[in-house]
Amino acid sequence: MQHYPVLEDFDDPSFDPFMSDEAIFGSMVDPWTPLAELRRKGSVHERLYHPFLGMPPDASRPEMPPILVLGFEEAYEVLNTPAIFHQGYMHNLGVTFGHTLSVMNAPEHTRYRRILQRAFLPQVVAKWGETLVEPVIDELLGKFEKRGEADLVDEFTQHYPFGIIYRQLGLPPEQATLFHKMAISQTVYWAFPDKAKEASRKLGVFFAELVEQRKREPGGPDDLIAIMLNADVEGEGMPDDVIISFLRQLVNAAGDTTFRMTSCLLAALLENPDQYAAVRDDRSLILHAIEEGLRWEGPVLVQDRIAVTETELAGVKIPAGAYVEVVAGAANRDESKFPDPDLFDVYRSNKTSHLGFSRGPHICVGQHLARVEMTRALNAIFDRLPNLRLDPDKPRPVIRGVSLRRPDHIHVKFDPVT
Ligand code: HEM
Repeated sequence: MQHYPVLEDFDDPSFDPFMSDEAIFGSMVDPWTPLAELRRKGSVHERLYHPFLGMPPDASRPEMPPILVLGFEEAYEVLNTPAIFHQGYMHNLGVTFGHTLSVMNAPEHTRYRRILQRAFLPQVVAKWGETLVEPVIDELLGKFEKRGEADLVDEFTQHYPFGIIYRQLGLPPEQATLFHKMAISQTVYWAFPDKAKEASRKLGVFFAELVEQRKREPGGPDDLIAIMLNADVEGEGMPDDVIISFLRQLVNAAGDTTFRMTSCLLAALLENPDQYAAVRDDRSLILHAIEEGLRWEGPVLVQDRIAVTETELAGVKIPAGAYVEVVAGAANRDESKFPDPDLFDVYRSNKTSHLGFSRGPHICVGQHLARVEMTRALNAIFDRLPNLRLDPDKPRPVIRGVSLRRPDHIHVKFDPVT
């Protein structure tokens, strides 16, 4: 029997990061109208994102001249010019996740990214669809498919990406709830810095022991830690501290994003029953729906960069040391790139140009896995919840948020499996 390290809870175990989701990520339903109005006045502005949308500024952000990028072309340029625009997460995510790809720049980023990418190539993640993803989806749907009604957020989307991660890491189920809580707590750094640092420290100890344990006794063929320990490019592997930081980031980068994106996508499809039926009846449209979902409501709205040399963007002078917030969410609704941008339309011709997974060298390393997960989720929902529709007697899904977005609930009805 394998020995598992034990993850330690907060010194005050009553701390609950989930209670503060709205306070931290915002509860605004429509940031799109004010963002579009500002973008029409100019693609680039000297101001901060959160205060513009009525939120307090990120208190952990260092004093730097702010730049807000709202236009598609300009956002694309910033994300694809890493020599000028370096990563800007050192003061928040970097403090808690540690030495991850998200805080690295070339040449270090290029080196480790090439290695880590090997663990998430399309051919690798396609196999996980069968062995890791399908069993988690199967178990969750099995719990309510006979009932004829459900809340797809509470009972499905909120759980499936995390269930997949627990299987990838081979975590004992009894530690899953605590693990989720500690991992999410790392992202509340600007509101609760002490709690975020405590979570980061305790997860670091836990993962260091887990990595040592997997060196001694690797799990099965899907053991992500063993895969990362063995990944190399020209004989160079990843140091333990980079693996541990990646593991700290995983629940947020892979779990929280996929949870939010799947929820937004299901809400979009169910609010547009014609498109729901079209995708259900022609499964080749699933990938189109996913890409349009990423454009329309990609859950990560902002990417942070720091200008390291003076430059100019859309006629606005950007001083060296400027803190640049690239609002991918606003760029994805730039009408000069995407006509009628607020419309969710799976038939849109250029939807794959979106910035929902970012662009440039830091483009999401897990994008192929995310697509596999969402494709499997949609296929299973189409097959196992016949005649799925929004519950007319319950509130409709409302997507909220300023930095990360998702609907609170998706109340549905369907024909129960007998
Ligand atoms: C729908 C789900 C997902 C969305 C919307 C998403 C979104 C993003 C975005 C926007 C970035 C870039 C941030 C930036 O440029 O500053 C990113 C990076 C990243 N994502 Fe994802 N992600 C998703 C799923 C995943 C999954 C499943 C993994 C699992 C491995 C993952 C791992 C990462 C990592 C490690 C990075 C950092 C890459 C780098 O800096 O080189 N993501 N993701």
